[in-house]
Amino acid sequence: MSENTLTITDNRTGKSYTIPVTDGTIRAPDLRQIKTGPEDFGLMTYDPAFMNTASTRSAITFIDGDKGILLYRGYPIDQLAEQCSYLEVAYLILFGELPDKAQLAAWQHDIRYHTFLHENLKALMHEFRYDAHPMGMFISMVSALSTFYPEANKVDDADNRLYQIKRLVAKVPTIAAFSYRHGRGLPFVYPDNDLSYPGNFLNMMFKMSEAKYTPNPVLERALDILFILHADHEQNCSTNAMRAIGSSRADPYSAMAGAAAALYGPLHGGANEQVLRMLRQIGDVRNVPEFIKRVKGGEGKLMGFGHRVYKNYDPRARIIKRTMDQVFDVVGRSPLIDIALELERVALEDEYFITRKLYPNVDFYSGIIYQMLNLPVEMFPVMFAIPRTIGWLTQWQEMIVDPEQKIARPRQIYTGSPRRDLKATDTHEPIPA
Ligand code: ACO
Repeated sequence: MSENTLTITDNRTGKSYTIPVTDGTIRAPDLRQIKTGPEDFGLMTYDPAFMNTASTRSAITFIDGDKGILLYRGYPIDQLAEQCSYLEVAYLILFGELPDKAQLAAWQHDIRYHTFLHENLKALMHEFRYDAHPMGMFISMVSALSTFYPEANKVDDADNRLYQIKRLVAKVPTIAAFSYRHGRGLPFVYPDNDLSYPGNFLNMMFKMSEAKYTPNPVLERALDILFILHADHEQNCSTNAMRAIGSSRADPYSAMAGAAAALYGPLHGGANEQVLRMLRQIGDVRNVPEFIKRVKGGEGKLMGFGHRVYKNYDPRARIIKRTMDQVFDVVGRSPLIDIALELERVALEDEYFITRKLYPNVDFYSGIIYQMLNLPVEMFPVMFAIPRTIGWLTQWQEMIVDPEQKIARPRQIYTGSPRRDLKATDTHEPIPA
C-alpha cells in the first residue's frame, strides 16, 4: 500500500476505506463512498468558516502563519517592499514574474491610460449624500463600471480579462479619491498621468488651486509600500468572495464589488478604521491597562490584533512600523502612536494574548499612517481596497482558468423542520382564483 494514503474505518459499518493523500490533503468527495447503506448520501465534512478546508490550488501568495512568512510569487514581502514599486509588484502578482524594463514601461503606460472615469460615473458619485461612507461609494462605483463595459462578461477570453484588469487597477485610485472629495464637498481632481501610481493618488486627493501637484517623495513612497503590503493575502474573506462570485461567471466588476463589500467588515479590512476609533477612545497611555482588562473580560476585541492564519507577528505590521517612522519625520509624530506601542507592549507580555497567539496584524499600524496622511478614518478600508484590487483580480483569473473549479456551492447540514403540509388556516393572504 502506498504511504500517501489514509485508511478510514467506519465504526458504523466496520468497513475500511483507503483514500489518497495529496499535498497533505484528502479530497472531500473521496469521503462520499463511505455510506451506511444505499440510501445514505455519503460522508461529508463539516467546516464552518473554512477552518481546515483548502478550496483551491494557488500559485500566487504563500503564508506560513506560524513562522510569520509572506511571499508573493515566491519573493519575501520585506524584499519586495524595500526594492520594488507597487506597479512592479502588481505585475509580479498578475503575471508571475517581475517585469523587465520594457514590460514595466508598457504596464505603467497601460495603467496610466485607463485612470480616467466616464463622466457619467462622476455624475453618479454626486448623487451620494455628503456623509455617505466612502466604502459604500467605492463598492457602488466598482459595480457600476460593469454597466459601462458590458463586454467584461466574456470572462473566458484572456485578452478581454486582461483589459478589464488593467482598467480596474487604473481606475480604483480615481474612484477612491473622488469618494473622498465628494465627502469634503471639494471638486474632483482628474488624474495626472505624469505622476507615479501613489503620487497621482495623492494628487487626486489633495490638489487644491496649484497648477501642478508635487507629492512629497517620502509620503509617496510610504503609500507605495502600504500598497505593496496590501496587494494580496491568499484565501481571505474578500478573496474568497471574489472567487465565489466569479465562479458563477459574473463579470469582474460585479465580482469585485462583492469582494470589496466583504473587505468592508470590521473583522477584515474595516479593522484599520476600528483601530483608530479604539485608540482615540483609549485616549491616553494611562488607560491602556484598564482597556486590556476589559478586552480580557470579553468586552470587545483589541482591534488590529489576531489573525486566522498568522500565529506570529504579521510581517506586514513590522514593515509598516518602520515606514511609520519615516512618515513621522515629515509630518510629525502622531499622539496615538504611544497608545498603540503601549497596547502592543502590554498585550505581548500578557498571558491572554500569548496563549492565544495574538499579535499585531497589518491593520494595527496602517491606520496611524493614513491618519498622518490626513485621511479620515472612513477612507481606511478604501485605502486597503485600492492595492488589493490586483490580488482579487489575479485570484479571480486563476479560478477562471482552473479546470478543477466549478461554481462554488457548499453543502449544508439541514437543521429545519421535517416535511409538513400547509393547513387552510396557515395562510392569510387572499390568492386570486
Ligand atoms: N482581541 C481579543 N481577543 C481576541 C482577538 C482580539 N483581537 N482576536 C481573537 N481573540 C480571541 C478570541 O476571543 C478567542 O478566544 P477564546 O479562545 O477564549 O474564545 C481566540 O482569541 C481565538 O480567536 P478566534 O476569533 O477564534 O480567531 P479567528 O481566526 O476566528 O479570528 C480575527 C481572526 C477575525 C482576525 C480575530 O482575531 C479578530 O477579530 N481580530 C480583531 C479584528 C482585526 O484586527 N481584523 C483584521 C484581521 S487582518 C485582515 O483582515 C486584513
